[in-house]
Amino acid sequence: MHKIKNTIAENFGGAASELGSRQFKLDDCPDLSGKVAVVTGGSEGIGFAVAYTLLKHNLSKLYIISVSRDVANGAKGVLVKELGQSAADRTIWMECDLADWFRVKDVAEAIKRVNERLDILVNNAGRGIMTAELTPLGVDRHMAVNHIGHVVLTSHLLPLLRRTAEQGSIVRISNQASNLHNKAPSNTKFASLDEINTDVGSNGQYARSKLAVLLYARYFARKVTKNGYPNVLMNATHPGFVSSKQSRKDIFEPFPAGGYAMSHGIEPFKKDQFEGSVPTVYAATVTNDSGQYICPPAIPEEGSAQSQSEELAERLMELTRNIVREKTRSESVEKGCPFDDLVLH
Ligand SMILES: NC(=O)c1ccc[n+]([C@@H]2O[C@H](COP(=O)([O-])OP(=O)(O)OC[C@H]3O[C@@H](n4cnc5c(N)ncnc54)[C@H](OP(=O)(O)O)[C@@H]3O)[C@@H](O)[C@H]2O)c1
Repeated sequence: MHKIKNTIAENFGGAASELGSRQFKLDDCPDLSGKVAVVTGGSEGIGFAVAYTLLKHNLSKLYIISVSRDVANGAKGVLVKELGQSAADRTIWMECDLADWFRVKDVAEAIKRVNERLDILVNNAGRGIMTAELTPLGVDRHMAVNHIGHVVLTSHLLPLLRRTAEQGSIVRISNQASNLHNKAPSNTKFASLDEINTDVGSNGQYARSKLAVLLYARYFARKVTKNGYPNVLMNATHPGFVSSKQSRKDIFEPFPAGGYAMSHGIEPFKKDQFEGSVPTVYAATVTNDSGQYICPPAIPEEGSAQSQSEELAERLMELTRNIVREKTRSESVEKGCPFDDLVLH
């Protein structure tokens, strides 16, 4: 019975969300005075709700990383109106497509240059259920944005994150996965670039990338948290079924007709963006665990069998390392900016 109640609470909004066995509310977010955070995709949807909540709880500085200046300006306008000018002034927007790993590196280096600490990293931005597409670097866009871009970002920020932990703080990294990770193709091996560039349909593309996001959190916990940095935590989350641009608009791109059911038919049952932000806020500000898959509101779940495979995680990260090296070496060396310092654990 607990399991059924948790499943309902995890995925739906309103009264349904009260059924979960372990409760956490946004008001339980601790005071964050003095802390610095980065939120990817913090300008819209769930990421915006995370950004808003952190600022509301007195975060000292917040970097928002996203693509659209207009959306970011709109977000800042809402922050001014609802939390006041001083909260909005504590945010810095950095334009960055996570599929552009050169830009990701530059953004991370810029953050590292001017900050003595980084307490919270929320790897939230994502490409939703959309048609398969290759980036200019020749990599599947779902994997390039949802997983690899965040690995590049985290890896470049890791020295600062570790330093913050060494100063006595608990550093929390939260990756936005999805329960759809369990729909990744059963033959997923993460064996080659050709494999991840193979179109497995919009649902499969998304699911495979979210499996990678979850595997990365578990891998990181083994290689970093349990390997000398007990206060640098990384967890993955599932937000539930949330009303956002992804589920209201982007879904029409692969499913022009069928998207209607997802965007309108079940709209009344979806969570709003604040309800969807609850597990991330928990993972980013409260948890003392690492390598967990946290479902709403704050319930650690096992995830699929694939997501628990250490062997699959090792192969994923080996492939990630090889792809980043191969795709960035020539151009970055030409630009006098080798990726040799990339810390890919
Ligand atoms: N909605 C759901 O039901 C649901 C369920 C499970 C998991 N999730 C995950 O939750 C996360 C947030 O999704 P959401 O529903 O809040 O979607 P959303 O409202 O569409 O917001 C997505 C955010 O990610 C940013 N973004 C997208 N592509 C990017 C890129 N290439 N580089 C940098 N930033 C990029 C967007 O910035 P711009 O506006 O500038 O493009 C936006 O701020 C995603 O990882 C999604 O997969 C959502």
